[in-house]
Amino acid sequence: MAYKELIYTSLARQPGTTKDVQDILQSSERNNVGTGVTGLLLFDGDRYIQILEGSAENVTGLFSKIQTDPRHLQVELLHSGGISARAFQNWRMAYEELPSGLLEDLAENMAVFAIELEDESLEAHESFGARLNGLFMDAIAAE
Ligand SMILES: Cc1cc2nc3c(=O)[nH]c(=O)nc-3n(C[C@H](O)[C@H](O)[C@H](O)COP(=O)(O)O)c2cc1C
Repeated sequence: MAYKELIYTSLARQPGTTKDVQDILQSSERNNVGTGVTGLLLFDGDRYIQILEGSAENVTGLFSKIQTDPRHLQVELLHSGGISARAFQNWRMAYEELPSGLLEDLAENMAVFAIELEDESLEAHESFGARLNGLFMDAIAAE
């Protein structure tokens, strides 16, 4: 597998404000070019869902930093695994703000998908990124 994808969910330490997100996106702009990490950050005012894609080394390294970031709590890894192609190759870190409460359901949905993905009887060609990309494009189209 050429790349690794990693997806997690967490809770904002300061719900209801996008100030932290603006700072986070600035860091992402700055750092993700050099490390070749791409992905998507979703935020609904309470919860984050982020997918990171790139070399196994750089994705793991970034996730270690993110896990200790005081701007969020209860970081829960949903899935990590190999992928043959990126789903967010055109973005350093795509960002979408969603209506309050929406990510609670999505995180549960993603957890179920993670279990399905680990079930070998299932055709695992659909990456997490591909599934999330579809949702992201739908959200942009609806704006
Ligand atoms: C939800 C969340 C997502 C983040 N995503 C990224 C990211 O994609 N890239 C990144 O470099 N830092 C990200 N960060 C920030 C890192 O935890 C860390 O603060 C940053 O990489 C430090 O880089 P700097 O020293 O250049 O500011 C994220 C933090 C949070 C809370």
